[in-house]
Amino acid sequence: MGVFNDMLKSGESLIKNEIALDYGYIPKLVPYRESQMRAIAASIKPLFQNRSGRNMFVYGPPGVGKTVAVKHLLKEIEEESENITPFYINCWQKNTAFKILVEMCDIIGYKFIQNKRTEELFAVLKQYLNKSERSAVFAFDEIDKIEDLDFIYNLLEDVFRKSVILITNYKEYVTELDERIKSRLTAEMLEFQAYNLNETRGILKQRMEYAFVPGIWEEDAVESIVQKTAKMSDIRSGLYMMKEAALIAEERSSKKVNSSDVSTAMKKLDDFSIKKTEELEDEVKFILKIIKDNTGKRIGEVYKTYQENGGKLVYKTFWRKINKLEEDKFITTKKIEGGKEGKTTIINYGQEKKLTEF
Ligand SMILES: Nc1ncnc2c1ncn2[C@@H]1O[C@H](COP(=O)(O)OP(=O)(O)OP(=O)(O)O)[C@@H](O)[C@H]1O
Ligand SMILES: [Mg+2]
Repeated sequence: MGVFNDMLKSGESLIKNEIALDYGYIPKLVPYRESQMRAIAASIKPLFQNRSGRNMFVYGPPGVGKTVAVKHLLKEIEEESENITPFYINCWQKNTAFKILVEMCDIIGYKFIQNKRTEELFAVLKQYLNKSERSAVFAFDEIDKIEDLDFIYNLLEDVFRKSVILITNYKEYVTELDERIKSRLTAEMLEFQAYNLNETRGILKQRMEYAFVPGIWEEDAVESIVQKTAKMSDIRSGLYMMKEAALIAEERSSKKVNSSDVSTAMKKLDDFSIKKTEELEDEVKFILKIIKDNTGKRIGEVYKTYQENGGKLVYKTFWRKINKLEEDKFITTKKIEGGKEGKTTIINYGQEKKLTEF
């Protein structure tokens, strides 16, 4: 009997709420970020008194809660005030004024966007927001990916009551900003540092409670995930390992996740992308997949495979996407002497330093 009691019945799962393991999931609490959230809230507070707010520049390394903290605050604002409209824009996905405005029009519920130009959409937005009593919080995440910085300038100029929150991994980004925007912006700098071991443990354990059937985790399995995550200082890597390890345990029909499941999951960490692949545009995601399957090959060969698989971009554009992927650290390239072809470029998936080597 005993043996079977430990076994998962078919159709049973160790995961009770898979959504809680998504990187974009917003938990009810965001522990260890209270002081940062209070600082952001303070810059927004004047909006509640129908005055203009202050601006914030939020920076810090990947996976330290910048996005989740800001989104959490925006949600609160949405619940608390009718007159303040929170806009969350991911500039990785929406990198032009036009795309951003389409998104913003959607947020304010304006439907007649078809055939409208950027300026027309902006006029709609301004008219909506500049009505008395109304104000806005604009959060631009991954701001360094935006292509039209002028758009931010226009927002700063033309929307009367607002707070602008800019989020990025790079502190230098703000110092290198165009003077014209910098002087308009006068943003307060707010740093998010990596979590320490205890904080990492607290966050991961809380997430485990949301996501898994109680009692399935062996203590040392949890601890090795916590240790590894703290070393990598990106909470996402912990979420990734938790999910993978649980799936591995399920595969062997176990009701418990043990440390050997975690070790197996850690070996898969190489697949855990350096940045968040789910945020790339579809075409770039497709190119990245081709590179992953053809890592170490010459750019010409990779392009050929891309075309054979239905890729439509001309070589020059393809090449530009490759450069961008390298800049964002999804891939590395190396120039070599290519024999009779002269110089050529070798493309490798991921970074030279593997994540598991940290
Ligand atoms: N304090 C916290 N409490 C609960 N969950 C957290 C906390 N900090 C981070 N997380 C979780 O960790 C993951 C990564 O956090 P988040 O997306 O906010 O990182 P980020 O700082 O925006 O990283 P990046 O710069 O790469 O965008 C998310 O799933 C988030 O829910
Ligand atoms: Mg983020």
